This record gives sequence, structure tokens and C-alpha cells, in this order.
Amino acid sequence: MKAPHTCSSEKMNPQTLLLILLLLPAARAFQFTRMAQYVDSHQEEYVEALRDWVAIESDSSNVLKRPDLHHMMEVVAQKLRLMGGTVELVDIGEQELPNGQILALPKVVTAQFGNDTSKHTVCVYGHVDVQPAKLEDGWNTDPYNLTEINGHLYGRGASDNKAPVLAWIHAVGAYQALHMDLPVNVKFVIEGMEETGSNGLDAMILAQRNTFFSDVDYIIISDCGWLSRRPALTYGTRGNCYFFAEVEGPKQDLHSGVYGGSVIEPMTDLIGILDSLISPSGKIQIPGIREAVAPLTDEEWKMYQDIEFDLENYKNKTGVSQLMYDNKVDLLAHMWRYPTVSIHGIEGAFSDPGTKTVIPAKVTGKFSIRQVPNMDPAVVKTQVTDYLHSVFGKRKSPNKLKVSMVIGAKPWLANTQHPLYEAGKAAVNKVFNVDPDLIREGGTIPIARTFQDVTGKSIIMIPIGGFDDGLHSQNEKMSRYNYIEGTKLFIAYLNEVSQIKKTSV
Ligand SMILES: *[C@@H]1O[C@H](CO)[C@@H](O)[C@H](O)[C@H]1NC(C)=O
Ligand SMILES: *[C@@H]1O[C@H](CO)[C@@H](O)[C@H](O)[C@H]1NC(C)=O
Ligand SMILES: *[C@@H]1O[C@H](CO)[C@@H](O)[C@H](O)[C@H]1NC(C)=O
Ligand SMILES: [Zn+2]
Repeated sequence: MKAPHTCSSEKMNPQTLLLILLLLPAARAFQFTRMAQYVDSHQEEYVEALRDWVAIESDSSNVLKRPDLHHMMEVVAQKLRLMGGTVELVDIGEQELPNGQILALPKVVTAQFGNDTSKHTVCVYGHVDVQPAKLEDGWNTDPYNLTEINGHLYGRGASDNKAPVLAWIHAVGAYQALHMDLPVNVKFVIEGMEETGSNGLDAMILAQRNTFFSDVDYIIISDCGWLSRRPALTYGTRGNCYFFAEVEGPKQDLHSGVYGGSVIEPMTDLIGILDSLISPSGKIQIPGIREAVAPLTDEEWKMYQDIEFDLENYKNKTGVSQLMYDNKVDLLAHMWRYPTVSIHGIEGAFSDPGTKTVIPAKVTGKFSIRQVPNMDPAVVKTQVTDYLHSVFGKRKSPNKLKVSMVIGAKPWLANTQHPLYEAGKAAVNKVFNVDPDLIREGGTIPIARTFQDVTGKSIIMIPIGGFDDGLHSQNEKMSRYNYIEGTKLFIAYLNEVSQIKKTSV
């Protein structure tokens, strides 16, 4: 950079010298300002990029959309290639559908920008597949035609997770456009099966543990949202154990007028055992589960106190008149750091409109238990199975009970004192002038735990989505503000991470 001409040939007076010395440490801040201006002046381009991505119906749950999904991965790869990244489309094999059909999985895109061994290497994980969406579901606009209303960009996948992935790409692009060295090497892992369970990704991470991931220092995930209008860093997610409890009785469905009163009904047995899982006040009644939960520390309690969260708003948003707990700390704690039981459905039960007088012969209750530290899904499986069999046993029913656990995802928890989080706080302060809320997710992002277990690297979750983005539901949106300021946040974050001492793991 050229020196400003105000202090060229003449001898500097002491005041000018002092001024320059004061301004020197601000050189970085100045660069950030330049980058932020670059982002502001390119925001239409960023919105167009999001429009192009949202237009691709990359619904991973719909086999008819699989060609769109393959196309989506190609589009991502091409964008990264055009930016000069070292890009690969990694084949992760096929999936077998319940009907026996074999379908190719969308390839995983890996990319690398920079390979300077004197710098840290971060790996950004994201996904570009989406949940299903149809205008008839109750969308106000075509879900695949990005539409801006009052600064909100409506479209399926806008917040989950296309805009955050693009924001990371724009962050790298801004460094390139301004000819600034990337402060860290940046890798990307972008998948297309997240919404249906990340099929094939675990195996891919395991297979590339000693290659693609070997020089990665930190993993960054931006696949969640803020809790309020205040920016947040996410340091934990709950896991999930999903159970089927099948009760089988008569060899076929029976008429309740003819057989009612003579047979012991599977549905009555099932409702009985499901009812034994959790009390009306939310107390889990399966022995051993509550004992396994890490105790709430004073520090945590204090952290929850400081979080911006409005109970009345939350009631309004959910449309309920009363919550399980009437104070912020208890409520947040039970959303994030205590397990809970949810009963999802009963397969085989009569659920159509009308008054069919059937006695279903076989019913399968479906429920899940959100997992928190220090629960272990393998132990939970035994605890639940033993407990349900003992409750069922007391009923002295001739029907048969079969309990199986079909998902066993572990929770994930990070250390908020880690330099990665310190860097996150600094970056949030730089862009938003506030300290971030440190929050957890009640939901499950299984890949975080896989990254942690397989690569042994530290992970941070930096969300940029809003608290009211409507993920997975109608009228999903990403605010222009969150998208653009989020891009600046990622730019600032890369710079902050570069300043972490090399010894931190
Ligand atoms: C490292 O990056 C440079 C510049 O981008 C490139 O020319 C070189 O091939 C890369 N080396 C490896 C091993 O990726
Ligand atoms: C998207 O919506 C706009 C505004 O309603 C409309 O003009 C445009 O034709 C639509 N684009 C597509 C691809 O449907
Ligand atoms: C809930 O929010 C809606 C929309 O913001 C508002 O119109 C309504 O008055 C609120 N209801 C309550 C009970 O606060
Ligand atoms: Zn997502």
C-alpha cells in the first residue's frame, strides 16, 4: 500500500508521528472495514447466488429429485473450482431404499484453498440438500423461487443451509478479490444428504481421516440459528435415541363389537407402556437415565441467566398457554442439557377420519429420547428395553412386545473456554459490537460428534441464521441482514482463528 501523501517529504513533527503510531495497530481493523465494504457493495451478487441455489430442488428425501441433487453438488463444485480451489467430488456409494431400489448417493464436495503449513487449516462443513416443500403446504411464495419481502429472503433451504454455505464461500472470495492472503487455509466439506441422516458421510470421513482431514486443525459448522436477535455461538447439541415398541396380539385386526371384551388388546398394552415413560410434569421414569445426566454447574446456571430469551415470545411462537417450566433457566436447561422423551406416533393404529371400530392386531409405538452428556446410547438402549419389558410384564398380557432402538446418536459438547470460541467472541464483537450468547441446540447434528470422534479435532458452531427462520417448515427464510453480516462475521472469524497459538488443539 502507498503511504498517504500527507507525510511524504517534509520532516514529520512529533504529533504526526504519534498519530501514525496510534493508527498502526488499527491496520487490521482498517482491512476489515475494507472487506466489510466490499461485502456490502456485492450483496446483490450474493443474493443472486442464493437465488440460483434455492432454485435447485435439492430435496434429499424425494427420490424423484435425485437428479436435481446431483446437479446441486456439481454446481457447488464448479463454483469452488472457478475460485481456484482444489476440488473433488467424492463418490460415497449408493443407498438402498426400503422397497429395494438402489440409488446413487449425491457426491460429497471437498475443496481446499491454500496449503501453507505455517498457517492453521480450518474445515467448514455444510449441506446443500433441503427438506421437501410445496406451495400447497402453505407457503406464501413459491418455495424454490427466492422472494424478498421486507428484507427477508424466502425460499426452501435459504437458511438451512444454503445461505450459510454461500456466506463461507463469499468470505473466501472477498479475501481473493481484494488480493489479501487468506489468514488460514480453508477446506470445505459439503454434503447432500444431511436432511435424511447424512448417509455415507461417516464412512467418507473415516476413509479420509489420514488424507483430507489429516492437516485440519479446526472444524466449523454453521448449520443452526441464533436464539434471539443477538448473535450466538453454539457449544452443544443433544443426541437422540429413537425407539420402536411393537406389540403384537391377534393374528389379524378384529371388530370391537364382536371381539371387544374377549381379547387383550395390543393398543391398550402399548398405550400403557408408553404412558410409563414420562410423568405429566416431565420426569423421565426409566431407571438410570436421570442419574446419568451431568449435574448443572453454577457456571452454567449463570450462563443461562445471561442469555437473551423471552418466555412470552416463546409461548407465542409455539402457540401454547403454559410451558413445562415458568423460568428461563429451567426452560433453557430442559431444552438443551436434560434428556426428554417425545412420543411421535403409533404405526398400525387407526388414524383416518371417521369411526372405524377396529381392534388393531399389531401396533408399533415410536418415541425418542434426546441425549445429553453423560448418557451413552448403548446403555440407554438396555435401560429402555429392560424397563419396558418389566412394565409390560406386570400387565400379564399374552401379547408379544419387541423393543428396538433404530437411531443412537450421541450428544456433542464443546469447551467454551477453547481459543476457537474466544476467536468467535472476538469476531462477533468486531461485526456486531456485542458479546454473543453462548447457546446449545436441543436438536441433533450427528456429524459434529463424528468429526470429533474420528478426527479428534475441536469443533465450533457459528450460526448466522435467525431465530425465526422457519427451518423445515413453511415460509423458510434467511434475512438479508443475517446473510450479509454473516459473511462479514466469517471474514472476521478467519482472521481471528489465524491468531490462535499453534499449540492449541
Ligand atoms: C499448494 O498451493 C499452491 C498454490 O495454490 C499450488 O500451486 C500447489 O499445487 C499446492 N500444493 C498442494 C500439495 O496442494
Ligand atoms: C419468481 O417470482 C417472480 C415474482 O413473482 C416472477 O416474476 C418470476 O417469473 C418467478 N421465477 C420463476 C423462475 O418462476
Ligand atoms: C403473538 O404474536 C403475534 C404476531 O407477532 C401477535 O399478533 C399476537 O398479538 C401475539 N400474541 C400474544 C398473546 O402475545
Ligand atoms: Zn441443516
